[in-house]
Amino acid sequence: MFTPVMSTQPSPAALDAYLTAHNSRIREELFTFLRIPSVSARSEHAVDCVRAADWLARTMADGGLTATVIPTPGHPVVLGEWRGAGADRPTVLIYGHYDVQPAEPLDLWSSPPFEPTVRDGRIYARGSVDDKGQLFLHVKALEALLAVHGSLPVNVVVLAEGEEEVGSEHLEAFIRAQADRLACDAVVISDSAMFAPGIPSILSSLRGLAYFQIDVQGPAGDLHSGSYGGAVVNPATALARIIATFHDADGRVAIPGFYDAVLDWPEHVRAGMRDLPFDDDEFRREVGASALGGEPGYTTLERIWTRPTCEVNGMLSGYTGEGAKTVLPAVAMAKVSCRLVPDQSPDEVERLLRAHVERIAPAGVRATVTALHGGRPWRAELEGPLFDAARRALATAFDREPVIVGEGGSIPVVGDFAAILGAPVLLMGFGLPGENAHAPNEWLAIENFEKGMRAAAQLLVELGASSR
Ligand code: BES
Ligand code: MN
Ligand code: MN
Repeated sequence: MFTPVMSTQPSPAALDAYLTAHNSRIREELFTFLRIPSVSARSEHAVDCVRAADWLARTMADGGLTATVIPTPGHPVVLGEWRGAGADRPTVLIYGHYDVQPAEPLDLWSSPPFEPTVRDGRIYARGSVDDKGQLFLHVKALEALLAVHGSLPVNVVVLAEGEEEVGSEHLEAFIRAQADRLACDAVVISDSAMFAPGIPSILSSLRGLAYFQIDVQGPAGDLHSGSYGGAVVNPATALARIIATFHDADGRVAIPGFYDAVLDWPEHVRAGMRDLPFDDDEFRREVGASALGGEPGYTTLERIWTRPTCEVNGMLSGYTGEGAKTVLPAVAMAKVSCRLVPDQSPDEVERLLRAHVERIAPAGVRATVTALHGGRPWRAELEGPLFDAARRALATAFDREPVIVGEGGSIPVVGDFAAILGAPVLLMGFGLPGENAHAPNEWLAIENFEKGMRAAAQLLVELGASSR
């Protein structure tokens, strides 16, 4: 079926005019969204997660979508739907998360985390870039298209979850249960960053995650380190010894079997990564370290984008207060997470790490490994109509061709989308390096928010046109 599209599709200029005219209202709405402290990790904020979900649903409905808040065993899911294009037209699923990371440490914020503040062309607030701002720009792109044109070029389902920052525990079951309603031809996600200011970027991969807690139990209770020390195995020392076996002296992960499932990247992809302008020394200064370190044989970007890791996230044992206390602690604990790459699986890595820790734990202590959460790694298909439409939409909005970048972070549900819905996934993010996601003073560049809305709208226009 061929239908001429030129006269019926909204032009970038008409969308631009709408978004410009409504700019301050849209900004105010985003600020209202950002003021809700929807911290998924903290039970005292569960009510704020519900408030954020309700607010988002109402805003979607105001913009012309049919919106529903659907309870889960955790925080609710918000679904916004518009199916007016007809059953014979493609459906695009837009995913994002309305939950945010805890804002602590509060004293390091220059302005309050839940009072959005504009400085230097940036919106400072927890969730501004990760991911409320990036989710919201899609909602507003849909509003703009509907307002300018009265319809969307494709059917759309917006799925906003409230548990991404705690591992999306209930989302896989939700997607399986609602697979018919979520059936789609493409998934679009903005929850990542651009390579550099002015350079729109499409993600080629995400790392997966396998997150653990390791508990080491020694004597039945804390002991006087003088009366008992030297004769009883110290669990803090035992834990340190266990952790020290996770890497060899060169920086490779030394857990037996860890690299078995790791796929090599095609040489042309590695070459593309090496071609991106990247300066190790500048990166080193940015993170404030005296030297960089990692797996031999790989560049910094390859280490972050294409190789798996095993990182200690936290350690706790014994006396950590003011002054000195002579104690031989009874317990020690560490949080350890592995970032995974295709084709590692969180379950297999859990099995390997558990077996390794049990094998090497010194006599005199008991070490237990508890898996906290996991997510599959993902690699994009960098060709096809979705990818081509994204290139065009980003080039229109940013006046520059996008680059392809990898990503070291994880979005647990992406692997599930690919596996359960069988649709290609596009990640086009509008954050920037240094955006302080998860840290104090998180920010989103206003320019990227505004261009992001235009790109999101244009992507649907391109997808509508290319599917006719
Ligand atoms: N938006 C991030 C993932 C991300 C991070 C994409 C950096 C691009 C650049 C997401 O919200 C996130 O923080 N994911 C967590 C997953 C975890 C909490 C299960 C992560 O990567 O640590
Ligand atoms: Mn995110
Ligand atoms: Mn995050």
